[in-house]
Amino acid sequence: MEYAVEVSNLTKRFGDFTAVDGISFAVKKGEIFGFLGPNGAGKSTTIRMLTGILIPTEGSGRVSGFDIITGQDSIKKSIGYMSQRFSLYDDLTARENLNFFGSIYGLDGAALVERIDHVIVMAGIAGMADRQVKNLPAGIKQRLALGAAIIHDPPILFLDEPTSGVDPVMRRNFWDLIYRFSREGKTIFVTSHYMDEVENCSRIILIISGRIIAMDSPDNLKSSFPYEVYSLNVEHLIKIFDHISRFPFVQEAAVFGSDIHILTEKGYPLEKEIKKIFKRIGVKKFRLERVPPTLEDVFVVNARKFGG
Ligand SMILES: Nc1ncnc2c1ncn2[C@@H]1O[C@H](COP(=O)(O)OP(=O)(O)OP(=O)(O)O)[C@@H](O)[C@H]1O
Ligand SMILES: [Mg+2]
Repeated sequence: MEYAVEVSNLTKRFGDFTAVDGISFAVKKGEIFGFLGPNGAGKSTTIRMLTGILIPTEGSGRVSGFDIITGQDSIKKSIGYMSQRFSLYDDLTARENLNFFGSIYGLDGAALVERIDHVIVMAGIAGMADRQVKNLPAGIKQRLALGAAIIHDPPILFLDEPTSGVDPVMRRNFWDLIYRFSREGKTIFVTSHYMDEVENCSRIILIISGRIIAMDSPDNLKSSFPYEVYSLNVEHLIKIFDHISRFPFVQEAAVFGSDIHILTEKGYPLEKEIKKIFKRIGVKKFRLERVPPTLEDVFVVNARKFGG
């Protein structure tokens, strides 16, 4: 099996602060690989080491077959990278931007024109290709930035929080594009802090304070979750939440929309216990049901445990 990305003990220190702390993983060709973590977890720093921008303090790795320390220039040519604060030229049109980024990658003549046309159609911006970027809606700019990142048709794509700050419909559209690349056989490495978004990945890493806390498919992460999750719907939510959180059988309680999620040890008779408590304090109307764990449950528990 050949890997698109493989790293071993990858570490980055800034002074005596360790931003990425000895992480090892491998991404298979064709995977949509998600990197999930809170602010400051080390996601962008990792991406910068993988894209040939930052030299690691320790560790080694290969991207697209090239060494991340000695092959930085070759890596840059063979990947697409959409940074967290992607930069398009505001005063240029969409087409001019693609032309600019394409020439940076050494494309010219008919080949460049063909790629630009392809990307314009792919990104669904045909009607707006000749408008200045500053006059385009945020969601379109984001698709254009993705288009600029793949103008040279790279086999691996690095996307650093590509959908932060865009609405859910735009996010959906954006993911349709990511799936399309994946079906074409490209490898996608994407960072995010949206739980629902990383559900779309074949495997994910949960990273907190520069360390890998978990690495698996979303389904496996959920099915190996060591707690049972209950959803409680009741009046006076906050008051009940405060009351319930204190009981030692509650491993974790969190407000999820209009419900409280309660995590208990597997096999704990929660329904019986809650009925007893509610009888005592005079709560008559409530609904309690077992629900499958979500990635958010997995994330909340790990963040608490590992200090994210
Ligand atoms: N050049 C730098 N010099 C010093 N510290 C840095 C530098 N770059 C990043 N850091 C620190 O390293 C840690 C990880 O930063 P990084 O940008 O990788 O986090 P992130 O997971 O991408 O967070 P976010 O979700 O906010 O983008 C942070 O504490 C950050 O302040
Ligand atoms: Mg970041």
